[in-house]
Amino acid sequence: MIRAFKTILVTGGAGFIGSNFIRFLLEKADFAGRIVNLDALTYAGNPESLADLAEKYGGTRYFFERADICDREAVARVFEGYAPDALVHLAAESHVDRSILGPEAFIKTNVMGTFTLLEAARNAWKFREDVLFHHVSTCEVFGALGDSGSFTEESPYDPRSPYSASKAGSDHLVRAYHNTYGLVATLSNCSNNYGPYQFPEKLIPFMILNMVEGRSLPVYGDGKNVRDWIHVEDHAAAVWEIMKRGEAGRSYNIGGENEWENIRLLGRLVEIVAEESGQEVGGLRKLITYVKDRPGHDRRYAIDCSRIKRELGWERALSFDEGLRKTVRWYLDNALWCERVRSGEYRTWLDRNYASR
Ligand code: NAD
Ligand code: TYD
Repeated sequence: MIRAFKTILVTGGAGFIGSNFIRFLLEKADFAGRIVNLDALTYAGNPESLADLAEKYGGTRYFFERADICDREAVARVFEGYAPDALVHLAAESHVDRSILGPEAFIKTNVMGTFTLLEAARNAWKFREDVLFHHVSTCEVFGALGDSGSFTEESPYDPRSPYSASKAGSDHLVRAYHNTYGLVATLSNCSNNYGPYQFPEKLIPFMILNMVEGRSLPVYGDGKNVRDWIHVEDHAAAVWEIMKRGEAGRSYNIGGENEWENIRLLGRLVEIVAEESGQEVGGLRKLITYVKDRPGHDRRYAIDCSRIKRELGWERALSFDEGLRKTVRWYLDNALWCERVRSGEYRTWLDRNYASR
């Protein structure tokens, strides 16, 4: 069975993965329907990431609704107004460091927001089978690994930061709605994404911009924590495969099979930024500074994504070196996007163009 959708409601579509996912659906995927992007536009959401698509498809295949996923009435209005037959849930507070400084927003958006969407979907869809709620989650719900092994879909949940705990809660809620109310739902747990339009607080864009601006490159702890990196477009393609052919109630791990110690990754990034920007490698290396470790810093993430490869035939398309170079070039070429998303300057424009609902 292959599912087909007419109207896909994407939450968090103005964020990093959401904007790339919408771009993928409109420009590359075998999808001819329309997309409704529901986003509250927090510090991490920037409608400028989709400005070209809004211009090209606005009013025909692309619609934007500024709303908080915790706002029951607003979410119900969007369901009534557009009658979506799929929902891809990406809206979240997404940064571990911020969750350590202020966990409340994470519990609100990631747990209560997911609950609000599930209730809206249950009410709107009743017992319909020709619909889908796809929940985008993280491999961080499985906790941290030692030197060997990898997370499978059967790994026990063991979240260790407020961020991962809130995402774990949301995963459990989605499964509960499937098991209890028969909501047609699928889930995915992905490793660390990189690529264009990522808010420059996450490791890769943060380090690229610091290099460009000659600021120090803070490495937490001994720099030997390991992350498994995947290009955001490979993630988008994987989510789309799950939406079309994934089994309801099932979760799928998505990963890049691409493990890097942070310090080794930074070394490679320094070389690429030097090549692409004409700066001296030695000068950039001198910016690397070891700083106090993140509390509860998960040592290693690694994903076993054999299920999605075997069952749905998904494979990652981009090599890390190619993806990293493209990403570096994107950040060098898009200084204005970076400046505006960091300074929040775009908000004046935003408040003029999108009235809060
Ligand atoms: P992001 O922080 O870049 O974007 C989040 C988006 O959600 C923003 O546009 C923001 O405005 C919106 N948002 C936040 N709170 C909202 C609310 N209450 N109501 C409506 N919109 C709200 O995040 P991202 O990196 O694009 O991550 C997207 C999803 O993918 C998240 O659910 C995250 O947990 C998951 N994920 C991310 C990664 C990664 O490496 N970035 C890896 C695996 C899974
Ligand atoms: P991050 O991009 O915040 O993603 P996550 O915590 O969800 O994996 O961080 C990736 C890794 O890089 C993580 O081990 C923390 C580390 N890190 C640093 O060493 N320095 C930094 O300035 C940042 C932002 C992250």
